[in-house]
Amino acid sequence: MTTDTLRQYFEHYDQLLLQHQHYWQFNPFATRQWPWPNSAEQIQQQLHHQLSQLPNPLQPMVTDKTVRLARPFWLSNGITGRKLAQIDGFLASFTSQNPVVEWCAGKGHLGRLLSFQRELPVTSLEWQANLCAQGQALAERFKLSQRFNQVNVMQLAPASLPTDSAVVALHACGDLHRRLLEQVTQSGCCELFVAPCCYHLQATEDYQPLSAIAGQSLLRLSKADLKLAVQQFITAGQRTQRLRNIEQLWRLVFELYRTEVTGCDHYQPLPSLAKQQFSGELKDFINWACAQQRIPQPQSRQLPTFVEQAKQRLLLVRALDQIRQLFRQPLEYWLLLDRALFLQQCGYQVRLQQFCEVSDSPRNTLIIARRH
Ligand SMILES: C[S@@+](CC[C@H](N)C(=O)[O-])C[C@H]1O[C@@H](n2cnc3c(N)ncnc32)[C@H](O)[C@@H]1O
Repeated sequence: MTTDTLRQYFEHYDQLLLQHQHYWQFNPFATRQWPWPNSAEQIQQQLHHQLSQLPNPLQPMVTDKTVRLARPFWLSNGITGRKLAQIDGFLASFTSQNPVVEWCAGKGHLGRLLSFQRELPVTSLEWQANLCAQGQALAERFKLSQRFNQVNVMQLAPASLPTDSAVVALHACGDLHRRLLEQVTQSGCCELFVAPCCYHLQATEDYQPLSAIAGQSLLRLSKADLKLAVQQFITAGQRTQRLRNIEQLWRLVFELYRTEVTGCDHYQPLPSLAKQQFSGELKDFINWACAQQRIPQPQSRQLPTFVEQAKQRLLLVRALDQIRQLFRQPLEYWLLLDRALFLQQCGYQVRLQQFCEVSDSPRNTLIIARRH
């Protein structure tokens, strides 16, 4: 894609997000009543039309069944179905002949299949020693040219990747893929294939645009905004879905109780908790939350009233979430285009391509960059 095309895509999404900020840049949890004059149906109708007019910045998926057929079954042992589908899609889009560096490799499944199928040397970077050891053992068992390097990629010296390498990264979170883009461009690596994920996993509170063009945008993104870009519930299993419902209800119960006790209706966020905490008892959660915010614990008999009110509030939260969800994909495109524009600005030819089905991973976009 040319700079102009990428810039045009970016501007479309930037304008859309800015124009409708009030529909997505707020916290549904802290909202007590329907905030707009129009009904949910009216808003959805109006937005659906506008959203359908936007250009799609992604190139369609390349399906190459030979990738799967060319592989002996034992090579992919231990890789779950969805991960394997992601890797197959990634491989179908991987067109390089250069030695490969695999960024944040885990057990290096992608690198292992790549090394076997393309007969390329692969260096897999990973900081967890046990994952490196397991990955290295598999590579040796299959006599592959894949070597693990146990490093913290955040502490690599600047420009420390080989210039002639094709760097691959499957699902590198927030700062890990930001650092990857810095390393690749500083080192002048010839090719990059990266599937970003979890944009909100970053050290800074607010989003720092990478490209000069996004730097000029009036859009300011907090971590909570960045979470929206990956907030999709379609691949969650039933248990996860159930626990998420309970979590939302319990957090609202606490929020209603806290407002009553303190008289302060300014929303106070609680820290995040592991999902399994929500398979316990409501009163334990409330007691924990009270300790967090140093307020007295409720009597057990007080809770049912708050639960009933919370159920009502949850309906509102759901309706507001549905409107916000309409902006999830535009926001993710905005973030992907910022990365693409940054690479272009650093002298790369860039395209965005879908590499697997959403059902295999909702983070299914590959940024493919080649140095001019
Ligand atoms: C989301 S997993 C992705 C693993 C693999 N690419 C895949 O798709 O299955 C991220 C990996 O990055 C590794 N990691 C996290 N922080 C790292 C760091 N600072 N340096 C190197 N590896 C890191 C984790 O140990 C984990 O294996």
